Amino acid sequence: MKICVTGGMGYIGSHTCVELIKTGHTPVIIDNLVNSNKEVLNRIQKITGVKPAFYEFDVRDEAKLDACFASEKFDAVIHFAGLKAVGESVEKPKLYFDNNVGSSKTLIKVMKKYQVKNIIFSSSATVYGTPKHVPLLETDPIGQATNPYGQTKIEIEKLLMAEAKQDPSMNIVLLRYFNPVGAHQSGLMGEDPWGTPNNLMPYITQTAVGRRKELTIFGKDYPTKDGTGVRDYIHVVDLALGHVAALKAIKEKWGLKIYNLGTGKGTSVLELVTTFARVNNVKVNYQFGPRRAGDVAENYADVKLAKKELGWSALYTIEDMCKDAYHWQKLNPNGYAQ
Ligand code: NAD
Ligand code: WQD
Repeated sequence: MKICVTGGMGYIGSHTCVELIKTGHTPVIIDNLVNSNKEVLNRIQKITGVKPAFYEFDVRDEAKLDACFASEKFDAVIHFAGLKAVGESVEKPKLYFDNNVGSSKTLIKVMKKYQVKNIIFSSSATVYGTPKHVPLLETDPIGQATNPYGQTKIEIEKLLMAEAKQDPSMNIVLLRYFNPVGAHQSGLMGEDPWGTPNNLMPYITQTAVGRRKELTIFGKDYPTKDGTGVRDYIHVVDLALGHVAALKAIKEKWGLKIYNLGTGKGTSVLELVTTFARVNNVKVNYQFGPRRAGDVAENYADVKLAKKELGWSALYTIEDMCKDAYHWQKLNPNGYAQ
């Protein structure tokens, strides 16, 4: 299938493009490079032998999006494009709303014009808000977002749900990712945040290669196995394969579907840090600090539905995630920047 991949130059989008090419699909990337680097195209080509078509523009630019849809004739869309920094979204809620919700509205409008009926959307476990129980099920209610970024994901899910109701010929898959980490096994692609990382794994890898002095573990008094926060980390390649599985299923036409993409296993911050140090034989300096505002103690997915209906489940272990993340960071200490 020919797939429009918005945000395909980013962390998850680039890994998904590789898996799409490997399974015979043709990804076409639209990205304004607000949080990514053009070098990604070369890396995709190095891994797959194929350089995907790339359109550099903002998805909110309706004229450019329209022209792209007119010439490409897409079978489906995977919509990754969006801003994702939780802290920044608190400072700039309007920017997040305009960019994330605005681009989704423009995309839906143009899809309708060109009768493109299939869309997979990058949602997030953040839509559950503060979990009342774990593991989280797809049938659990959408919660109260704890930040503006999370609110944009809720708004976009609602937009797509309304679309599905209004047009039963649409096939919409909402994929709720838990905590994507790791990198491509080649070491050619990985996570490359601008500035100081907000997320745990890139902070660990940058500390391990000496770019950061030490990691601060946010809180050691949570009601968890060792007092540190527990999350469901999932290898980015497993996540990419989840999109390929959803695409296969979408062809069968089923309206709106929602899936958690995680491993179903909770790992604490301390467990992740000690596993990283052990499998990579490297020291990760850390200190304990206070809890981070808005963090929950424990968060992991029930993943049975994706296994049952998509035939997909995560294969890579925490050890694999740590090894691949470090391999990427060692080969690219400054990310994609040369
Ligand atoms: P990323 O920032 O690496 O990739 C997003 C890409 O979208 C970037 O290349 C950026 O340049 C592009 N982009 C942003 N706004 C755009 C716009 N208006 N027009 C065109 N391009 C635009 O992020 P990622 O980690 O790959 O995340 C991909 C998607 O998955 C996002 O929607 C994110 O919210 C969602 N998600 C990410 C995580 C995570 O922890 N990484 C977890 C859950 C959900
Ligand atoms: C993981 C754990 C921290 C950094 C975020 C978004 C979520 C989703 C995934 C997009 C927590 C601890 C972290 C550090 C630490 N993104 N930590 N020191 O917060 O679970 O989820 O990314 O949709 O919406 O909120 O991920 O990687 O930031 O934190 O101790 O320097 O690591 O407290 O327990 P989080 P994270």
